[in-house]
Amino acid sequence: MCGIVGYIGEQQAYPILIKGLHRLEYRGYDSAGVSLISDGGDLNVYKSKGKVSALEEECKNQDLSGTIGIAHTRWATHGEPNQVNAHPHYSESKSLALVHNGIIENYKSLRTQLEGYGMTFCSETDTEVLVQLIEYMMKDHNCDLFTGVQIALNYVVGAYAIAILEKEHPDQLVCARKGSPLVIGVSKRENGSTEYFLGSDATPIIEYTNQVVYLQDGEIAIMDRSGRLDIVDLKNSPQTPKLATLQLNLDQIEKGGFPHFMLKEIWEQPNALRTCIRGRVNPANKDVVLSGVLDHKDRFLNCRRIIICACGTSWHSALIGKYFIEEACQIPVEVEYASEFRYRNPVIFSDDVVIAVSQSGETADTLAAIELAKEKGAFLYGICNVIGSSIPRATDSGTYLHVGPEIGVASTKAFTGQVITLCILGLAIAKVRQTLSDEMYHMLVDELYKIPDKMQWTLENNKDIDKFAERFTYCKNFLYLGRGYNYPVALEGALKLKEISYIHAEGYPAAEMKHGPIALVDAEMPVVVIAPKRGMYEKIVSNIQEIKSRGGKIISVVTEGDTTVRGMSDYCFTIPDTRDCFVPMLAVIPLQLLSYYVAVTKGCNVDQPRNLAKSVTVE
Ligand code: F6R
Repeated sequence: MCGIVGYIGEQQAYPILIKGLHRLEYRGYDSAGVSLISDGGDLNVYKSKGKVSALEEECKNQDLSGTIGIAHTRWATHGEPNQVNAHPHYSESKSLALVHNGIIENYKSLRTQLEGYGMTFCSETDTEVLVQLIEYMMKDHNCDLFTGVQIALNYVVGAYAIAILEKEHPDQLVCARKGSPLVIGVSKRENGSTEYFLGSDATPIIEYTNQVVYLQDGEIAIMDRSGRLDIVDLKNSPQTPKLATLQLNLDQIEKGGFPHFMLKEIWEQPNALRTCIRGRVNPANKDVVLSGVLDHKDRFLNCRRIIICACGTSWHSALIGKYFIEEACQIPVEVEYASEFRYRNPVIFSDDVVIAVSQSGETADTLAAIELAKEKGAFLYGICNVIGSSIPRATDSGTYLHVGPEIGVASTKAFTGQVITLCILGLAIAKVRQTLSDEMYHMLVDELYKIPDKMQWTLENNKDIDKFAERFTYCKNFLYLGRGYNYPVALEGALKLKEISYIHAEGYPAAEMKHGPIALVDAEMPVVVIAPKRGMYEKIVSNIQEIKSRGGKIISVVTEGDTTVRGMSDYCFTIPDTRDCFVPMLAVIPLQLLSYYVAVTKGCNVDQPRNLAKSVTVE
């Protein structure tokens, strides 16, 4: 969703801000803007609809001088994506410029009040209300910007990360957050001066410094050129800035020779999963150690039920987690769409464990779901990728994926990272509850350890997907079928195709076909079937026959050495054999590649599909 960049220091701000906006493009946006206090003391704002490159075009021949600035990529919520609604927004006197991520829920009543005081508005956004409110408070209380922001934010209901410039004070930058992340990068230059960088995540900051302060909810910060970094909360109590070291490097956020982040991230999966399991899965004694579980053994021993809350792809991995944990730990597991869970007054017991699965750790609905569970006394466990994000900070315990930053909007390595983490979690809980025989436990750990190598094999042996993807470019619909552990893989395969190639696709449990969807099957309909030679193989063979006899085109994912399904298929992808529960991590790979190559052949913007945002920080 929206992205924020900011800079104050001795360097020219514009190139830093524009580069930062490019780094944030992956989050999804539809307009962009930048504001600078020029060397001559003007507070300039330039903005444009569309991509950052359009903003750069807009900025040509403008005064781009200045060593302080803020910039923004906007994903429209209030008001259509156009130049007027793009950020930064001026206050009425044009003395302030502000960028904002999040949603101000009471913006309408605030706007009516401010209009009552004679203030006028240019845009339809909630953001403009915020900057006007701050200016109003500064005048009303005859106070400086830092204080004005504190006073104004006490009237605001909603979520925000904001950064503000004040024309009269070109030596200071003010920012604040509540419910929307904001990171301050701190860098000491060789001449002893300090410069500060702002980012809604660390990607615009990492090439300048790895020293950061994660602003906490309800905090307001002021930075100036003398090196001052003061933080207060909404009640004006001083807070001590806590410096942290970023666990991120530049290579991880660049394409490294791949044409798209998505393809890079698909190929990264074997190594990403090796990093994910390192220190947690011990192949020598075939054991798992998960401190997040060990430190809270009693909660897992005595828990009545597990509820997993997630959205989108993370919801699919949660479903695989449910199947595995129920099988291995004999605990009932419910999987909930966080957006439904949070609003339907669910029954939550204080001896429930509620798990939030989220790549970004910032998804607004997932965060709200666990806050609800916290109120009811449940134990909260987070499975997230982004270190220091909101969900890990809101939960009692948890496990990071450690698969590295995921930049492609379509989730790939985070999905397989979530699945393997949920399997490790299931094994760790099974160990605590002693629900698996030693033999079964060791065998599962041993096999899980081999998954990254088997993923590598899958990638190497399905390289020709690009050759036939073009045959499906003009299809209007796809069906994806799987059973058991592979039903969520069918859902995930369909989602990947939809989001990046804009082809309608549905995932179904294969046996449900007869109850309706089979009516859709004709010679125009490609049907992707996940059919490993395991568990319900014979049953899925019958399902394939039903489709074939109605003329459907079969694209299958089969186990190495399989001849039956291969013989029935029009196109076939091969994966190595593994236990049923681990098949999803292999079977999803050809489906990721299929959607990637179909989208590329169609000429779609794979890394930034239309209308989509990488992390959905508004509901
Ligand atoms: C799809 C995708 C989304 C996310 C969903 C949840 O490829 O990426 O469906 O999975 O928005 O995001 P996180 O995992 O960050 O909570």
